[in-house]
Amino acid sequence: MPDSLRSLSDLPVDQPGFRILLLGDVMGLAGVKAVTRLVPELRERWNLDFVVVNGENSNGFGMIPESAGNLLRHGVDVLTGGNHTLRPSAIHSVLANNPRVLRPHNLGGPKTPGRGVGIYENPKGSVAVINLIGQVFMEPSDSPFNAFDTLYDQVKDQVRFVIVDFHAEATGEKVTLARYCDSRASFVCGTHTHIPTADARILAGGTGAVTDLGLCGATDSIIGMEPEAILGKSLHALPSRFNPAKESVHLQGVFVLLDEQNGMTIKVDRVDIPAFP
Ligand SMILES: [Fe+2]
Ligand SMILES: [Fe+2]
Repeated sequence: MPDSLRSLSDLPVDQPGFRILLLGDVMGLAGVKAVTRLVPELRERWNLDFVVVNGENSNGFGMIPESAGNLLRHGVDVLTGGNHTLRPSAIHSVLANNPRVLRPHNLGGPKTPGRGVGIYENPKGSVAVINLIGQVFMEPSDSPFNAFDTLYDQVKDQVRFVIVDFHAEATGEKVTLARYCDSRASFVCGTHTHIPTADARILAGGTGAVTDLGLCGATDSIIGMEPEAILGKSLHALPSRFNPAKESVHLQGVFVLLDEQNGMTIKVDRVDIPAFP
């Protein structure tokens, strides 16, 4: 047990509610090791009801069946995805067949494997997870705003809690979507930048939000990658092979307490834990 876990004494361990942990993009083997080592322990220590992790970089660029299975066997309820999720073809059958593995719903077309919405049973109330992708500084996709409307209408009468992972680059777009979902979603988290933002908050209508969860991976890096190759490309335009870094591995995300009656956010705490101190 890292000492850092003991420092989170202000977490409401006994406060009633639906207790969720949302973690940012898992970056490479170091990130997978951090999640598989710490999440089972955090589930017990914080009495967690539900854990959602963005897995799009768990194999570097993309996710493969082995990394997805490993994460799902170690306390992760749902894996969300992003712009890299479809890259390894090996994951396509997992996306098509495993409802616990999602990809952005507004990406691709009718033949794109998988989906960006799932409903999960829980003793405290059913949960919907919605995975969307942004349009600003990203590959072309359909409107995340329209996609949220469609998916929310599909799930709202079946679930108590609605969690949205909005995988997007631009902070403005992410804040806008969170505001758009206010009073409908329970919580809206951003992913993709691998940099945690300091704006975890509860909006006027009761929806909690954070612009980016950060990453599960090496913080002594350039957004989780070894710096040398990225510096070489930036300075000299040289083609480089990017590899996930391994130093100063952290788990980054938020702990969220949701109201079991109305599904809205009661409390949100930033989580940033050194995984191998
Ligand atoms: Fe991404
Ligand atoms: Fe990512």
